[in-house]
This record gives sequence, structure tokens and C-alpha cells, in this order.
Amino acid sequence: MNLLEGIRNDALDFGQPVSLYRSTGREVDWIGSLQDTIFHCNAYLLRSGKQTYLIDPGGREHFPQVRDRVSKLMKPSEVTHIIVHHQDPDLCASIPLWLEINPGITVLTHSRAAVLLPHYGFPSERVTPIDGGQFTLAEGELHFIPAPFLHFPGAFATYDTTTGFLFSGDIFAALSSDWKLAVENLDEHLGLMELFHIDYMANNRAARGFLDNLGDRRVSAILPQHGSIIRQADVGAAFSWLRELPCGLDIIYAD
Ligand SMILES: [Fe+2]
Ligand SMILES: [Fe+2]
Repeated sequence: MNLLEGIRNDALDFGQPVSLYRSTGREVDWIGSLQDTIFHCNAYLLRSGKQTYLIDPGGREHFPQVRDRVSKLMKPSEVTHIIVHHQDPDLCASIPLWLEINPGITVLTHSRAAVLLPHYGFPSERVTPIDGGQFTLAEGELHFIPAPFLHFPGAFATYDTTTGFLFSGDIFAALSSDWKLAVENLDEHLGLMELFHIDYMANNRAARGFLDNLGDRRVSAILPQHGSIIRQADVGAAFSWLRELPCGLDIIYAD
């Protein structure tokens, strides 16, 4: 059951993880950290049977909050996988701390990020490159959707066939001094996303290429690493916005 539709931002208890989806064989929670910054970082936990995927877990400063929220759902030592959608420190720098808790964690990322991650200080053997393709879980599949140059050459997003959730990394991220977990007014939120995208995303060609790579997958929500979750009613409009957005080199090298 998609619980996002019933979420009211002003009624959330951030002392706990926030349940986003519950069914037999699939549980998804927001387990990010609260911070006094416009560059707010989200992290997510996806569970399927004995497999547990920590998605974009955050920097070292985020680790205590993220670990404590995970511990309200399961033993942090039982996290089996970490997915990082690119190599930036705001989503990767906590990986060594997670490997101290469970040295057997498998870190999944694109091969271009895989060569960089060991510089955070952990063995390259812990990293498994995934360049597109998919994983079969106890229930459903995870599809890894290439998003080259949004904003890293090897960037990608993760689509969960069971929930229809698109974990989008920095794509659809927003900058805001008044962070909310879920978007309430998309028209206002588009301006906050634009603040981020015009400076970070390569260009409109890259944005359109990513949307084309998504194909006709049914997306029920967009869950970015910064900013707010875009719920089903706004997904189509958010895709249309990205498809038409001039950004990056379109602006810097405009005629
Ligand atoms: Fe980034
Ligand atoms: Fe980021």
C-alpha cells in the first residue's frame, strides 16, 4: 500500500522513520536526517525479504540520525546493500561507517562511480558495478535507469517495480529553507527544483535522454536525494517540466 498519498507534512513525527509503502514483501521508509540547511539530504530504506537496501545514505554528519532511524525498523548490522546513485560525499561519505557495522555490505553503483568510491576509505571489493540492468528481489525487481550527466557521467536512478517508486538521486532535487517531506504545491516546488537543476544538470538533452530511458514504466512517486517527494498526481507534470527545462550548458553557452 502506497502510504505517501495520506501523508500530511505537519502531522509527521520525525523522531521515527516515515513509512512510505507497506505490503507483504515490500517496505519502504524515509530514514533521512533533519538539518538546518537548504541542501537537505534524504535517505531511504527498501526492504524485501532478507534483502535490505539503504539508498543514498548520506554524509558522515548524517550517519547518527540515519542509523538511529534504521534501528527503529531493524538491526543496522542487517543492512545487506547500499545503493548510491553517484559518487558525491553528501550521499557516500557515511559508507565506511556502515561497513564498520557490517563489513559484508555490498555497495551498488555505476562503474564510473565504483572507481572513485574506495577513496572514501574502504576496499574496492565491497563495490559491485551496476551499469543499467536490473536485480530480482524476493518480490519484484529493481531497474537501474541510466541518467548520464545528470549530474555525474555515470548517474542513474532506481525504479522499484513493486511500488512504482523512482529513487532519482539528484534528479528532481530541490533547494529549500522550508523543507517538507512531500510536495504540497507543485507549481511552487518547480521553482525550488529549478534553482538546483540549472546549476547542476548538464543540459536539456541529458534530461530528455533520461526520461526516454525511463520508457513507459508506471511511476507512482519520485523520491529525490534533496528536496521533497513528488507524489503520483504530480509525477506527469514533473516529467513534463524536466523535458522542457533549459539547464547547465544550455544557459552557460547560450547563443
Ligand atoms: Fe550530487
Ligand atoms: Fe546530492
